Amino acid sequence: MASRCPISRLSICLAVVTFTLLTTAAQSKLLLNGTDCTIHEPLYNLTFDFKALSSDLNHHVTSEENDERFFFNVCDNDQSAKDNRTEPRAYLVRRDTKITLGYEAHLQLDNGRMQFSFLGEPCGNGSHYTLDIILLCSYERTPAALRVIPHTPDQCRYFIFWDTALACQPLPTALVANRCTVRDGTNRHLYNLLPLGSANHEVSLPDGSRFVVSVCKPVRYGHLTMCPPGVGVCLVNGTNYQDYGQAVPDPKIDASGRLVMEMRSKSGSCQNSLIVFECAKEEGIETGPIYRGRKDNCTHEFVWRTSLACRDTRPCSVSNPITGTQYDLSLLANRTYTLTSRDNRTYEVGVCRIPASSLCPLDAGACEVTAKQSVGLGVVSDELQYETTGAPYLLYRSGAVCDATSGRRWETRLEFICETDPVEGGRTGTVVPPIVVENSECNLVVHFETVLVCEPALMACGAYNESTIDQYVDLSPLMDSARN
Ligand SMILES: *[C@@H]1O[C@H](CO)[C@@H](O)[C@H](O)[C@H]1NC(C)=O
Ligand SMILES: *[C@@H]1O[C@H](CO)[C@@H](O)[C@H](O)[C@H]1NC(C)=O
Ligand SMILES: *[C@@H]1O[C@H](CO)[C@@H](O)[C@H](O)[C@H]1NC(C)=O
Ligand SMILES: *[C@@H]1O[C@H](CO)[C@@H](O)[C@H](O)[C@H]1NC(C)=O
Ligand SMILES: *[C@@H]1O[C@H](CO)[C@@H](O)[C@H](O)[C@H]1NC(C)=O
Ligand SMILES: *[C@@H]1O[C@H](CO)[C@@H](O)[C@H](O)[C@H]1NC(C)=O
Ligand SMILES: *[C@@H]1O[C@H](CO)[C@@H](O)[C@H](O)[C@H]1NC(C)=O
Ligand SMILES: *[C@@H]1O[C@H](CO)[C@@H](O)[C@H](O)[C@H]1NC(C)=O
Ligand SMILES: *[C@@H]1O[C@H](CO)[C@@H](O)[C@H](O)[C@H]1NC(C)=O
Repeated sequence: MASRCPISRLSICLAVVTFTLLTTAAQSKLLLNGTDCTIHEPLYNLTFDFKALSSDLNHHVTSEENDERFFFNVCDNDQSAKDNRTEPRAYLVRRDTKITLGYEAHLQLDNGRMQFSFLGEPCGNGSHYTLDIILLCSYERTPAALRVIPHTPDQCRYFIFWDTALACQPLPTALVANRCTVRDGTNRHLYNLLPLGSANHEVSLPDGSRFVVSVCKPVRYGHLTMCPPGVGVCLVNGTNYQDYGQAVPDPKIDASGRLVMEMRSKSGSCQNSLIVFECAKEEGIETGPIYRGRKDNCTHEFVWRTSLACRDTRPCSVSNPITGTQYDLSLLANRTYTLTSRDNRTYEVGVCRIPASSLCPLDAGACEVTAKQSVGLGVVSDELQYETTGAPYLLYRSGAVCDATSGRRWETRLEFICETDPVEGGRTGTVVPPIVVENSECNLVVHFETVLVCEPALMACGAYNESTIDQYVDLSPLMDSARN
């Protein structure tokens, strides 16, 4: 597992970690206890059920910082273990010492933050070890691994972050598998905004209220973000959360050719939102939404400058909208890759362009080859796209009919994964031979490992601010100034 703090920068990372042990001034706090591993959320009458987080084995995670290993289990309904209290349900191994962090997880909803808290053995000066496992809503199918954040200076209080869909409100069906794309009618360019959908964005207003905005997926429920289900724009004013527009599955091109999302409020109060996406060519410029005020009585306008809104993208390339890095896979194009799947079928695939000499039917970017014939599994495309999970991919759609009853056709998805281990050739685009990871249900999925999709210097470094602990505090700017 890659460390967020590169070793060489560890000292800087640690030096700037700050813990503000403030508790936010009690502004009509919503604090509730869970029962039986579920929380009933009163604002929207929802139930969050965490029973699926139980594990037969303990969960474990190692701190990046000083090799402290944490073991815990939650929602374990083995009652006899509960009554006996001989084995801690959460403990820490520091060097060779086992420290008890708690016997029983206490589930709480604290102003939208959901957490399991453990209270452990004494930790000097009258305090006790504590472990808070904070559950963060994530819509990703494969959420990030558990993360331990640096402890408080006395090394008594620990936090673990756990991304899980169980901490989310139910997704409206239209937003479950949406691609968040639209094709421009004039030059057929495909815009894909899905990469912008991986997080909530905050826009502060002068009177202390703020908008929480999310595109492609609804605003994630969380600490001080108890927004109504399905909203894309939420106005948070004190403890008041208002629907300023429901999230939509895809952007659209409006009458004047702009790339926009129109979000209409379900509350009926005439508070709708319009987000206009503008092309930002400069690399790495990711502003997030900027509030432009009211456009008419009913519409609040935001502008969002991003490279994903640019029209003239180069073939077989895509920019990472967060870092601005341009991934160019041309070096892999115009070749035929011959692959064998685990069930001994033979495929030919090409990246962006496939040579005419391949056995695939005309137009196909991938095909299955047998002694007698070849079957096209999708039309070749050089529109490299970028997934929220960080993997650029190519999608070849409309292959041969795969299911005669439904008329469903084959699709091929080539996923490109960063591999920095030196393969012969270095940055020449040499790849480890691609592998077929799926060839069923009308989908061929192939993984390519290549250095061409690695960030040149992926040196994320973060800390959490305890008073706003659910928000990742990005310390990269501090690192830069520390280096100068
Ligand atoms: C929640 O649980 C804590 C600890 O068990 C207890 O002190 C507190 O009174 C409970 N709060 C409510 C609202 O039940
Ligand atoms: C809350 O939800 C439950 C189950 O979905 C339902 O039975 C109940 O009537 C709802 N309560 C309110 C106040 O809407
Ligand atoms: C506690 O554990 C012991 C031995 O593991 C077992 O014999 C006993 O029945 C347990 N007690 C309860 C209340 O489950
Ligand atoms: C306990 O308190 C003393 C005096 O306030 C302080 O010097 C010491 O560092 C504390 N120890 C811990 C483990 O916090
Ligand atoms: C937030 O609430 C305050 C007090 O109710 C009100 O004056 C203010 O206009 C609200 N802000 C917004 C942006 O609605
Ligand atoms: C906005 O609201 C005002 C007062 O409610 C009304 O006079 C005006 O016609 C409205 N404008 C539009 C564009 O709807
Ligand atoms: C693809 O490769 C073939 C043969 O290697 C070459 O003739 C052709 O020009 C190449 N096409 C492109 C678009 O690079
Ligand atoms: C695949 O083919 C190889 C060689 O032709 C053969 O040894 C192997 O048993 C086959 N495997 C399967 C799963 O059919
Ligand atoms: C932590 O949050 C508090 C309150 O929002 C803020 O005053 C402080 O500057 C934050 N600290 C860091 C390191 O971001």
